[in-house]
Amino acid sequence: MEPLRVLELYSGIGGMHFALKDCGVAAQVVVAVDINTTANQIYQHNFPCTPLWSKSIEGIPLEDFNKLSIDAILMSPPCQPFTRLGLKRDVVDQRTKSFLYVLDLLPKLSSPPRYILLENVKGFEESCARNQLVKILTECGYHFKEMMVSPTSVGIPNSRLRYYLMARRSEEGLSADTHSKILETFPVHDDKDVLEQSAALCPRHTETGDGPECAQFLYKLETRAEQQRKQQQNSDQSITQIQDFLDPDVDLNLEQYLLLPKTLLRYAPILDIVHPTSRRSICFTKGYGRYVEGTGSVLQSSTEAETESVFRGLEEHSEEERLRRLQTLQLRYFTPREVANLMGFPQGFAFPDDVPVKQRYKVLGNSLNVVVVSKLLRILLSEEHLGR
Ligand SMILES: C[S@@+](CC[C@H](N)C(=O)[O-])C[C@H]1O[C@@H](n2cnc3c(N)ncnc32)[C@H](O)[C@@H]1O
Ligand SMILES: *[C@@H]1O[C@H](CO)[C@@H](O)[C@H](O)[C@H]1NC(C)=O
Repeated sequence: MEPLRVLELYSGIGGMHFALKDCGVAAQVVVAVDINTTANQIYQHNFPCTPLWSKSIEGIPLEDFNKLSIDAILMSPPCQPFTRLGLKRDVVDQRTKSFLYVLDLLPKLSSPPRYILLENVKGFEESCARNQLVKILTECGYHFKEMMVSPTSVGIPNSRLRYYLMARRSEEGLSADTHSKILETFPVHDDKDVLEQSAALCPRHTETGDGPECAQFLYKLETRAEQQRKQQQNSDQSITQIQDFLDPDVDLNLEQYLLLPKTLLRYAPILDIVHPTSRRSICFTKGYGRYVEGTGSVLQSSTEAETESVFRGLEEHSEEERLRRLQTLQLRYFTPREVANLMGFPQGFAFPDDVPVKQRYKVLGNSLNVVVVSKLLRILLSEEHLGR
């Protein structure tokens, strides 16, 4: 059989491409498209043989897409217009323009793709852009399934609840009841994750630099309910421990990843601290390493120090003593490699040497969980799973 011809739109650092390689279906990315030069540099580094169009999607004429004879489109359009706590400008947001262009093209393609996979943030499901997508897919004779999935449902200790739409064009035209059969097995995740994500999706951008003065140092800002939820997550044996995702070489440049004193003093109570034995971490966003609140978990690398006893009564001490105590925890950021591990990127994935650490966090924060998408692709692309 000929490999499937895949078009990867909004390709970023190639999360979709890695998932496609992993899913075991014979396929080839015939073209990837993205406007961001940093992301494109990383994409090319990892997929030097894949043609990459470094331009805006809305500037590519229909004929150019027709020439590709595409079997599948994989895409993760920009999500800022849809984030729940953002402005939600939806279809009037400039960043949605290219997606509306893609929707406009779909019925006009000389041979519409048989498969489509779309990834986006939670919030997309209630957008006009989603309604428009569904309308066009229906008109074009696609069957589709929408879902919300987090990596925790594939055993990865990281929350990243995302919206997915998988569509398949029916050979025999529309038949009303088949679209729900594309997928029934993948679990829709429960509310625990939703709660955690709502904080992570819209960080309040607490700058680690010279932000506004923090009025008062508080005891670890965590409610009993949150604490219990975390304990529950940490005892879920179906999820792998954080230590399996850590980079053994990190000690060589540990200094670089340790939290700075001013960050510790100011923000310790709002950090989401995990341990090597934890089975959870919050979503890593593009502000990781730059902003503190809700941008991703930090790791306690000291195994001797006890988190709770360090925090107990901490506010009663002098600044110097608080810092000394906090430093015994050896709190550090996950390295970009470790974030990539938690996002399911394979060991073969690499950054070009000249991409700064903060840019690495940024592009990873925009990307997706490769293991989750691989599993979805396996279901979407392999016939026996299609449930008919
Ligand atoms: C959510 S990220 C996708 C990330 C990708 N799935 C990955 O694994 O890295 C959205 C991407 O769309 C790109 N983008 C946004 N608007 C675009 C446009 N009009 N044309 C082409 N690319 C665009 C951004 O540069 C960004 O890399
Ligand atoms: C590309 O994306 C990075 C990370 O999200 C961002 O910092 C940078 O400004 C973008 N560059 C361009 C040319 O859009």
